Amino acid sequence: MPFCEGRREHAGRGGGGDVTAMSMPTIQLRGLGVSYRKGPAWQRIRVPAVNRVDLEIAAGETVGLVGESGSGKTTLGRVMLGLMPATTGTFLFEGKPFDPKVRRQGALAVVFQHPEWALNPRLRCGASIAEPLQIQKLGDRGERQRRVAAMLAKVGLDAELAGRYPGELSGGQRQRMAIARALITGPRFIVFDEAVSALDVSVQSQILNLIRSLQQQHRFAALFISHDLAATRYVAHRIAVMRGGDFVEVASAQQFYTRPEHPYSRALYDSIA
Ligand SMILES: Nc1ncnc2c1ncn2[C@@H]1O[C@H](COP(=O)(O)OP(=O)(O)OP(=O)(O)O)[C@@H](O)[C@H]1O
Ligand SMILES: [Mg+2]
Repeated sequence: MPFCEGRREHAGRGGGGDVTAMSMPTIQLRGLGVSYRKGPAWQRIRVPAVNRVDLEIAAGETVGLVGESGSGKTTLGRVMLGLMPATTGTFLFEGKPFDPKVRRQGALAVVFQHPEWALNPRLRCGASIAEPLQIQKLGDRGERQRRVAAMLAKVGLDAELAGRYPGELSGGQRQRMAIARALITGPRFIVFDEAVSALDVSVQSQILNLIRSLQQQHRFAALFISHDLAATRYVAHRIAVMRGGDFVEVASAQQFYTRPEHPYSRALYDSIA
């Protein structure tokens, strides 16, 4: 795959090792379980989607969350973004029980598979990127415009593109815009949910590089959800493998990509090798 070109000799991003040395993890999940209610009100049952998982993510660290469709990856990501409550267990954000205020302050962000979900088709891209600042009443108009211009440069887009509508951009440019919008408030935790899955392979490699370099600059904690073990390898320091709502393996990328422990991880791994 093109994004494997130029890789260093170590397997995965786990070789650096400095990220887990931080004292207070950004994210701590303890015995976290999530279930959905299903059925009509008189016959409502709870169907488990995530079963009591434990996970920590440090500032500057990316955890790759991989597993088959329906295994609970997006559900877990939604809980970590404060978009739905856990049914059991605890979720600490920067050492404190998660408070929805954290989300309102712009400390959390998400980048989806389809950038169209983040960008209003009727707004010029610059306005879409500025919107989270406006909602939080951060800066005046001039200040917001300056921040948008600086953010566009960071994600590798020409300032002129701020005046375009999302429909006037390529898929890769749209995803860069969506990343710019996600980053504009300086989030300390970002979920990338299949963020490169809909892109051409050559564009995927550019976006993966961008995610890596933005993380090195901004030191946010990240959950990188993907079906694609090769893409995940490029950005993740650690890998969590999910199956039927359980973590079957959590390992450093180095260890995982050298020798996955669990038979299910090996099967997943063999399918890309
Ligand atoms: N809103 C919902 N209401 C009821 N059940 C849901 C809801 N969303 C997801 N589920 C169920 O929860 C389980 C986990 O779904 P989830 O979307 O988290 O999986 P996923 O690993 O992200 O899958 P994919 O790789 O296809 O995106 C599935 O069985 C799914 O059917
Ligand atoms: Mg999903």
